[in-house]
Amino acid sequence: MLILVLESSCDETSAAVIEDGRRVLSNAVASQIPIHARYGGVVPELASRNHIRDIHPVIDQALAGANITLEQIDGFAVTCGPGLVGSLLVGVETAKGLAFAMDRPCVGLNHLEGHLTTVLLELDGVDSPTFPYIGLIVSGGHTDIYIVHELGRYTLLGRTRDDAAGEAFDKVAKMLGIAYPGGAEIDRLAASGDPEAIKFPRPMLHHDGFDFSFSGLKTAVLQHIEAHGMPEDDAALADLCASFQQAVVDVLLRKVMRAAKHHAIPRIVISGGVACNRQLRRALREAGAREGNEIFIAPASLCTDNAAMLGAVAAHYLAQVDLDRFSAHGLKARGNMPLGESLRTPARVHN
Ligand code: KG4
Ligand code: ZN
Repeated sequence: MLILVLESSCDETSAAVIEDGRRVLSNAVASQIPIHARYGGVVPELASRNHIRDIHPVIDQALAGANITLEQIDGFAVTCGPGLVGSLLVGVETAKGLAFAMDRPCVGLNHLEGHLTTVLLELDGVDSPTFPYIGLIVSGGHTDIYIVHELGRYTLLGRTRDDAAGEAFDKVAKMLGIAYPGGAEIDRLAASGDPEAIKFPRPMLHHDGFDFSFSGLKTAVLQHIEAHGMPEDDAALADLCASFQQAVVDVLLRKVMRAAKHHAIPRIVISGGVACNRQLRRALREAGAREGNEIFIAPASLCTDNAAMLGAVAAHYLAQVDLDRFSAHGLKARGNMPLGESLRTPARVHN
């Protein structure tokens, strides 16, 4: 069973070929980061235009990478939401067009479901967790903790009440004059800094639930810069980055460990762009070893947006498609899309 998966929810155009819902045969990604960096964030109109330019070359690249032709694809899958509607539209309409042309089924997927289930793929050096597991999504748009009971069944335990963790990284980076998206650069700068140099707040740390809040921390960084001026040298910049990063990591870590304990589920998965953060990965692995939790983190290249991350859910939903009743006709781009609605997206066509 070969599936072609498309993902274009934000500023990455991606296509992947997945075999049997587990094996990533290819995963082509065209990033638009250099295009948006000069504006300090994603410009939706530019994003859609570049998806249109990139989508077919990216599909060709994915097919060539898997050494197959379009005729060999058994089914198509595409992210329908959540994301930027103009961006999503490009992937959705392309997938529908291919599905019609090739007379194959096509399902619409939820982007977050992809992040949550990436570790179910066959990955070098990373085992797959058994169900249920605790899944933390930390990206530019989301900071959510779920229980993943099985594919398609999730319970939301908590989420950010304001900024997402990645958004906080990007906004602090902007304050420091670091180009968008600054998360990875803060990670790099923080490596030589002292995480205890500046005492930043740990928002919601002692709050009982599993919700997060990062806008106060962002303001605390701004106030620190206003009071002390911009870091005057590389060492001061590194200390500020390390101290901010440690505040985010402490909160994420504490909440996800507490969720695992509270629900007696020892398996923890983290995903989304911020899951690339080396200090978060290290701290979580250490905490897991200490507390007896199993930690599952995909390689960094599969944590930021890409199509392969949706391979497991794509196979799951395609297997449920009743070809006589489903049509890709009704697939629509959806800016907001609650988790667990993947299969409901296609319109039912009654013959
Ligand atoms: O999952 P993703 O590629 O896109 C969304 O779905 O949002 O996540 C992008 C986010 C950005 O905010 C970026 O700054 C952040 O992930 N990010 C990082 C790192 N790499 C990417 N944040 C902290 N440390 C990193 N190493
Ligand atoms: Zn994402």
